[in-house]
Parts: sequence; structure tokens; C-alpha cells
Amino acid sequence: MVWNVSGLMRTCRFLLLVILFLPCEVTTSVLTVNNSTENYILDTEPGSQESLKCAVHNHTREEELLWYREEGTVDLKSGNKINSSTVCVSSISENDNGVTFTCKLQRDQSVSVSVVLNVTFPPILSGDDFQTAEEGNDVRLVCSVKSNPQAKMMWYKNSNILILEKNYQVHQTSESLQLSITKVKKSDNGTYSCVANSSVRMETKDFHLIVKAVHEG
Ligand SMILES: *[C@@H]1O[C@H](CO)[C@@H](O)[C@H](O)[C@H]1NC(C)=O
Ligand SMILES: *[C@@H]1O[C@H](CO)[C@@H](O)[C@H](O)[C@H]1NC(C)=O
Ligand SMILES: *[C@@H]1O[C@H](CO)[C@@H](O)[C@H](O)[C@H]1NC(C)=O
Ligand SMILES: *[C@@H]1O[C@H](CO)[C@@H](O)[C@H](O)[C@H]1NC(C)=O
Ligand SMILES: *[C@@H]1O[C@H](CO)[C@@H](O)[C@H](O)[C@H]1NC(C)=O
Ligand SMILES: *[C@@H]1O[C@H](CO)[C@@H](O)[C@H](O)[C@H]1NC(C)=O
Ligand SMILES: *[C@@H]1O[C@H](CO)[C@@H](O)[C@H](O)[C@H]1NC(C)=O
Repeated sequence: MVWNVSGLMRTCRFLLLVILFLPCEVTTSVLTVNNSTENYILDTEPGSQESLKCAVHNHTREEELLWYREEGTVDLKSGNKINSSTVCVSSISENDNGVTFTCKLQRDQSVSVSVVLNVTFPPILSGDDFQTAEEGNDVRLVCSVKSNPQAKMMWYKNSNILILEKNYQVHQTSESLQLSITKVKKSDNGTYSCVANSSVRMETKDFHLIVKAVHEG
């Protein structure tokens, strides 16, 4: 008796699980973006324009399509939603690098194809052009960089490769090249050039460091 009851309960639990996980409707539809069924990377440049055409294949009925830019939906005109849909990405900029466009089937959003923009651009350098420090103080020159592909970075001083003195420290991240100088001396005065070399182009930005004597004047 005891065995029978627990056996029955096991059967019920099993049936319940089967019902819970029974798929509502199987989708055989396939999506493509510009003929690709796989996610892909689209190489592009600032200022250009790209159109992406999403189409449904092997569908048995009308299918509505959705486009996402990252997490946000793209507004589509009514004639640009059923069975196929085209988005136009215009005036592409450096900031669009890495942005993902995804086409999804409205009825089953697990069916999707994504395109990631790979926007190639030369190094863009920025930072404080002029800095003044009193002898004995610490200074830090920060050369911020944006570049794709990543640039090889280095410091020059008065047009020569920077010789690292004891009181110099260089720190590099993917976003900046920094030069920290502790206890600046008169001889540290000068123009420091931040050089970024990528396969696209070489860019230079000058940082002028003016070292003043303590209590000058
Ligand atoms: C897909 O490929 C076909 C044949 O290669 C071509 O004619 C068509 O223009 C392509 N469509 C898109 C959206 O790229
Ligand atoms: C995608 O296909 C459309 C239509 O064939 C074409 O105009 C567009 O240039 C293609 N875009 C890319 C990024 O290949
Ligand atoms: C559509 O279905 C056929 C038969 O199952 C298959 O051979 C074909 O690759 C499918 N088309 C796409 C775009 O997946
Ligand atoms: C979408 O595709 C379905 C199935 O092939 C078809 O019956 C329907 O007419 C198509 N609708 C549009 C607007 O293309
Ligand atoms: C992006 O494009 C650049 C230049 O064509 C290339 O070197 C780089 O490998 C690409 N990055 C990816 C993730 O595909
Ligand atoms: C200090 O460096 C600046 C920037 O390079 C330069 O204009 C100035 O002449 C230098 N002063 C001295 C005393 O060397
Ligand atoms: C910049 O890189 C290119 C190749 O990527 C190389 O030929 C060139 O010598 C480099 N320039 C400097 C100043 O390092």
C-alpha cells in the first residue's frame, strides 16, 4: 500500500513536469541577416552607412520581425516588419564601435541573428595641453586615447624617445597613457609628446610641462 501511494505520486509528478515543459508551438522558422544565419561582425568606418536586411525563411505563416539596437527596440514602419525588415544605420561614428544590432522573431524571440559593428578609426588623443608645477611637486600627464584597433603608445620628450628617469613612472591602460613624475626638477621642464601608432595612422599630442622654481619672483 505504502509503495503504491508513493509510486502514484511519482507518476503524477512526472506527468505534471511533462505538461509544464510541453512546448506551446515548435518554430521551424529561420532568420538571416544579409544572408547570414549566424551572428557576425560587420567591419565599417565613421561616416559610412550600412543597411541590414533581416528575412525569415521556412516559415508557415506571416512572421513579425523585431530589430534591437543593444537592449532597445528600433521603431519600424508598418510595411517593414512582416517576413523581412531592413534597418539603415547612418552616419556611423566612433561611439558606434561594438554596438550590437539584433533581429528577432516576434513570436519566438530565441530565434535571432546579431550583427556587431566594428568601427575602425585612427587614434583620438586628448588631455591637458599645459601644466605648471613648482619644483619638488608631483605631476601627472594623462594622455587619453580612443582607437580601433588599439594603438601602440609611447612618450617622447623634446622629440626624442623618453628616457625613464628614477622619478618617472609610466602607466598604460586601454584608455590612457600616463606619465607620473615625482618631485619635478627644473630639468623635467619641456614638451612631452604622447604618440599613438595604430595600423590606421600615427597621431601625436603635445603636453607642455612648465616647472617653476619654488617661490619664484
Ligand atoms: C543573398 O545572396 C543572394 C545570392 O548570393 C544575393 O543575390 C542577394 O542579394 C543576397 N541578399 C542580401 C540581402 O545580401
Ligand atoms: C546587406 O544587403 C543589402 C541588400 O542587399 C545591401 O544593400 C547592403 O549593402 C548589405 N549590407 C551589408 C553590411 O553587407
Ligand atoms: C529550410 O528547410 C530546408 C529543409 O528542412 C533546409 O534544407 C533549408 O536549409 C532551410 N532553409 C534555411 C534558410 O535554413
Ligand atoms: C509572409 O509569408 C507568409 C508565408 O510564406 C505569406 O503567407 C505571407 O503572404 C507573407 N506576407 C508578406 C507581407 O510578405
Ligand atoms: C575590426 O577591424 C579591424 C580593421 O579591419 C581588424 O583589425 C580587427 O580585427 C576587427 N575586429 C574584430 C573584432 O573583428
Ligand atoms: C619649459 O618647457 C616649455 C614647454 O616645452 C618651453 O616653452 C619653455 O621654454 C621651457 N622653459 C625652460 C626654462 O626651459
Ligand atoms: C607605427 O607602426 C607601423 C606599423 O604598424 C610601423 O611601420 C612604424 O614604424 C611605427 N611608427 C613608429 C613611430 O613607431
